[in-house]
Amino acid sequence: MSYNLLKGKKGIIFGALDEKSIAWKVAMRAKEEGAEFVLTNAPIAMRMGEINKLAEACNAQIIPADATSVEDLENLFTKAQEILGGKIDFVLHSIGSSPNIRKGKSYGDLNYDWFQKTLDISALSFHKVMHVAEKQDAMNEWGSIVALSYIAAQRVFPDYTDMSHAKAVLESIARNYGYRLGRAKKIRVNTISQSPTKTTAGTGVGGFDAFFDYADKMSPLGNAPAEACADYCISLFSDLTRYVTMQNLMHDGGFSSMGISEDIVELISK
Ligand SMILES: NC(=O)c1ccc[n+]([C@@H]2O[C@H](COP(=O)([O-])OP(=O)(O)OC[C@H]3O[C@@H](n4cnc5c(N)ncnc54)[C@H](O)[C@@H]3O)[C@@H](O)[C@H]2O)c1
Repeated sequence: MSYNLLKGKKGIIFGALDEKSIAWKVAMRAKEEGAEFVLTNAPIAMRMGEINKLAEACNAQIIPADATSVEDLENLFTKAQEILGGKIDFVLHSIGSSPNIRKGKSYGDLNYDWFQKTLDISALSFHKVMHVAEKQDAMNEWGSIVALSYIAAQRVFPDYTDMSHAKAVLESIARNYGYRLGRAKKIRVNTISQSPTKTTAGTGVGGFDAFFDYADKMSPLGNAPAEACADYCISLFSDLTRYVTMQNLMHDGGFSSMGISEDIVELISK
């Protein structure tokens, strides 16, 4: 159902790789709510071509950008404002990748060059996005910037290895830039800490099925699906959440407040 929550708003959506991507669902919902936006992803991710289908469905243009490259981001923000005919109201950073996880390196055996790559792609890119937006004065007052995080920033999930550090940095960047952009232009910056979700990035983590099921059984509402995460993003882009900033917002069906659930007790007692 559409409430026209984003009517007249202009955005940039990073990270739609395929139909399962959280960013894909956000784009579809943003379109439904009346937003105009550009889609962006790393040039290498474009090769799959899936994003073209989304662009067509949303009547959106695609501007390739490697989010670790300030030069690419400058081009992105310049072109996005040209295409959309004005400043930007919302940005979704839905980007994550760890070469160490992809290549099955355990926490005690991390490759440090790859570790730095993980941090650059999954956390520093968020800083770079806001740095470029600020330098270009590309955002409207009361704009909203959201990045996606995971509870491994606060708790230990052994197979999440270096991504847990990237998420901790990401959340810290949201607070620090949230302060800066809030003072400068009333722009809010938040992270959403999402339940395990069956996407390319998600299922790449070792033991994903086990911790997906575990989180589902721990959470009174069950795991939050990607579609519900998209709804939450839309609410944060809308004018209904103008005083929410510098927060890491749990979107996890209650998981983060649980100690143990009856379902887990039952499983262990078997
Ligand atoms: N899937 C989960 O279980 C889960 C849970 C919590 C948080 N998240 C977070 O949600 C976000 C989106 O992931 P997803 O689950 O939709 O998976 P996804 O694989 O669909 O999306 C990840 C995206 O990051 C993009 N990307 C990678 N390197 C990039 C670069 N250098 N420049 C620009 N883009 C780049 C990929 O092309 C891809 O589109 C990530 O931040 C992820 O950590 C996912």
